[in-house]
Amino acid sequence: MATDVVTMDKIVSLCKRRGFVFPSSEIYGGLGSSYDYGHYGVLLKNNVRALWWKAMLQERDDIVALDSAIIQHPKTWEASGHLASFTDPLVDCRTCKLRFRADDLQEAACGRKPSKHPGETPDCDLTEPREFNLMFETTIGPVREEGAIAYLRPETAQGIFLNFRNYLQFSRKKPPFGIAQVGKSFRNEITPGNFIFRTREFEQMEMEFFVPPDQAEHWFEHWLAERMRWYTGLGIRPDHLRLRPHGPEELSHYSRATSDIEYLFPIGWRELEGIANRGDYDLTQHALHSGQKLEYVDTASGERYVPHVIEPAAGADRALLAFLVDAYDEDEIEGERRTVLRLHPQLAPVKVAVLPLVRRDGQPELARAVWQELKERLQAEYDEGGAIGRRYRRQDEIGTPWAVTIDHQSLEDHTVTIRDRDTLAQVRVAISSLADELEARLRAPWRSPKLGS
Ligand code: GAP
Repeated sequence: MATDVVTMDKIVSLCKRRGFVFPSSEIYGGLGSSYDYGHYGVLLKNNVRALWWKAMLQERDDIVALDSAIIQHPKTWEASGHLASFTDPLVDCRTCKLRFRADDLQEAACGRKPSKHPGETPDCDLTEPREFNLMFETTIGPVREEGAIAYLRPETAQGIFLNFRNYLQFSRKKPPFGIAQVGKSFRNEITPGNFIFRTREFEQMEMEFFVPPDQAEHWFEHWLAERMRWYTGLGIRPDHLRLRPHGPEELSHYSRATSDIEYLFPIGWRELEGIANRGDYDLTQHALHSGQKLEYVDTASGERYVPHVIEPAAGADRALLAFLVDAYDEDEIEGERRTVLRLHPQLAPVKVAVLPLVRRDGQPELARAVWQELKERLQAEYDEGGAIGRRYRRQDEIGTPWAVTIDHQSLEDHTVTIRDRDTLAQVRVAISSLADELEARLRAPWRSPKLGS
């Protein structure tokens, strides 16, 4: 097995070549750090989301789902602290009119990173740093006036806090319980970049877990372990993951403790997901600003308290990037170089490709019939164009774990071969048991072949 050969450039190029992710608005020259997901990217991201929901909803009975609005009452962001504190320090250059993050410039000046300034740093005529709010502003209704200003949400979390009372009433849940949400968030990032790692429009998968105050530490540890398990269970190599607790100077305005799950991207160790103990900050703030009581009352004992919140906050795009990076591999088959995505089968955009060996002798007709049956149960793809070797390579590059080949023997005895993407082993099975066999393989425990034996 090849050692790590992955670079960000290879991922970007594979994503474009194979229809996972395209630069957005390309025909107009592109829009910096904006991306569109193509067919296989959509299938892959759907699987990332679905497996997150499965871990949150299907495998537990203490979490419920929400899909809240992107534009919420503007007071939300006053209460949450985002209007005052969700900022980056910026400097402007009076000469070239470019804008930099103050902390990024320091890096440039000390020589660790080349300046992005076309006129080079010594010519810069910089303003004093000032705080720049990262929220995207918009107006509600046709008139831009005071009171009509609203914001695109910079995190999905606040929609959950706004609905806390509704959930206490309808869900028959009491702390400890969680509310989960997946959806788009928007941040006017000053230094987006590194492909889909940091963009201005991205998708979050967040869950707010409401607990009795004296249980907060226990649940914080619980969610650190659970979330690490989710990534490794989906094939991420454990030595490419680590937990990093935030120092006091790094904590967000709402956080009592945060640990990042970091992944070893080709650009180095970077945050993949943040797990925070938000204490009672959000519910208390929204109670204060809305005048509504946001607390839990135990009707039997009369006990009342403001629950504390443990929040695992993940990014769907960033997780997808980590899965791609971790799965990327190159090897050689019969003297020919192959690129292969060794994705966990449950993540793979396509589970099975159905390929007639040749485009004659009744093989395409039988292959299409096999595909018709499989597609009812699995994401399957039919492909008859080109040499069989090239078709295998194409499926390897999009991470399809199994290829079913229909050959002359298939017409005689109604059997087909299943080729395994990773081991390249081919086994012959009866068409009548093919779907069961593939579903059993999909459910079976899986270990990244990049881990070695
Ligand atoms: N509610 C807490 C919160 O939003 P965060 O650490 O700012 O915490 C959580 O964001 C996750 O969202 C990050 O770990 C990352 O995966 C993803 N994320 C944040 N900003 C992003 C961006 N600009 N582009 C892509 N993903 C981003």
